[in-house]
Amino acid sequence: MRYIQIKGGTSLHGEVAIQGSKNAALPIMAACLLVRGVTVLKNCPAISDVFCMCSLLQSVGAKTEWDRDALRIDASHITSCRLPEEFVTKMRSSVILAGAMLGRCGEVCLHTPGGCVIGDRPIDWHVRALEQMGAVFEEEGRLMTARAQGLRGGRIVLPFPSVGATENVILAAALAKGRTDICGCAMEPEILALCAFLNGAGARIVLPERGHIRVSGVNALRESEYRVEPDRIVAGTCLIGVLAAGGRAFLRNAPAGQLESVTALAGKMGARLVKTGEGLYVERTGRLCAPGFVETGVYPAFPTDLQSPLLAALCQAQGQSCVAERIFNGRFAVASELNRMGASIAVDGCCARMEGGCRLLGQDVTARELRGGAALVLAGICAEGTTRVYGRQYIDRGYEDIVRDFRCLGADIDDKTEL
Ligand code: UD1
Repeated sequence: MRYIQIKGGTSLHGEVAIQGSKNAALPIMAACLLVRGVTVLKNCPAISDVFCMCSLLQSVGAKTEWDRDALRIDASHITSCRLPEEFVTKMRSSVILAGAMLGRCGEVCLHTPGGCVIGDRPIDWHVRALEQMGAVFEEEGRLMTARAQGLRGGRIVLPFPSVGATENVILAAALAKGRTDICGCAMEPEILALCAFLNGAGARIVLPERGHIRVSGVNALRESEYRVEPDRIVAGTCLIGVLAAGGRAFLRNAPAGQLESVTALAGKMGARLVKTGEGLYVERTGRLCAPGFVETGVYPAFPTDLQSPLLAALCQAQGQSCVAERIFNGRFAVASELNRMGASIAVDGCCARMEGGCRLLGQDVTARELRGGAALVLAGICAEGTTRVYGRQYIDRGYEDIVRDFRCLGADIDDKTEL
């Protein structure tokens, strides 16, 4: 069994290059199914969710090939509409293949998607929106089939700015008949990345105003090359790592403009940050202060994906903190593992309250989901003594190599295998 071993208690110093974005790469990979030809995605992160998406694309007949950090996807021939259960249940974002497959083939058959254990994750808004565009869904147990004889545009109003539902509608609308207006849509940077990729391939997508995306269907998309943007969540994890452990680091390529809620909070907690054209410099050498109240929200608010890493920093800050989770109801699962390391976090519904100034001690802990796993690594870096983080496979879903990245920042961290 693989685990991460960390000898903690030292500050972080150095430079790390931020990998390509998981949440941008996955919907763009789905979008490649709309192209009857070859797409090349540069700076594509080598993470297990991307490998899982490659398997899904291959299962419907596309070919995928890596050349260093470039992923070449050839979707000239699609031979199946069925997404194998094995991959769909592993990764929730496989649901965005529904819009892409309906757009390309007019049919898709998939199992109800799985993914991280971070609370209820229904897909009702995806289904309702695709139905409005002409898709007909049939369910048999956990198997879902959708068919559409020519998707058509219209006005889709989302009840909440869901990232996945917005992506699904954009994907379905790109080749649909007529104009699709998506109102109340998500405006995360990854949505803008998907639109930029599609427009580069010949789609016609504009943003008339905030929360409104207009897609005018085209007949076909063309082959293109696209560079996946750096991952704001990985950059944020490294930033919070320096905040928690103290030290000085340069986060090369970090998209500082997408991290304003995080840098503002880090500044309030005692960090000094300098944006440069090449990335973000972060320094925390003085006291770590509790910010009081923090809540997650849709972009540009503090991202839910950085809430767990933040807990690792807050439990050591001077003073009490309260974190309200507004996106995923079950996203405090890591609190009990942090408490085993000496934190004092009390979870009540969507709020976590914690005493600051805790002395973390090394422990054997287990990651049960991606971002909670990253939080345990940060806690291990701050803790006195040795921490072993099990459940590495969850962390590998979104971090190319978290051991490599924190070693670049001087952490005493190793990849181990237990026989
Ligand atoms: C995406 C990101 C994830 C991030 C999240 C919020 C990817 C691959 N994943 O997830 O990392 O944490 O956005 O920024 O990009 N909901 C429903 N019904 C639906 C759809 C969503 O009730 O049909 C609810 C969800 O349960 C959740 C909330 O809406 O409570 C937000 O979910 P959504 O924005 O859709 O997140 P994902 O696209 O799953």
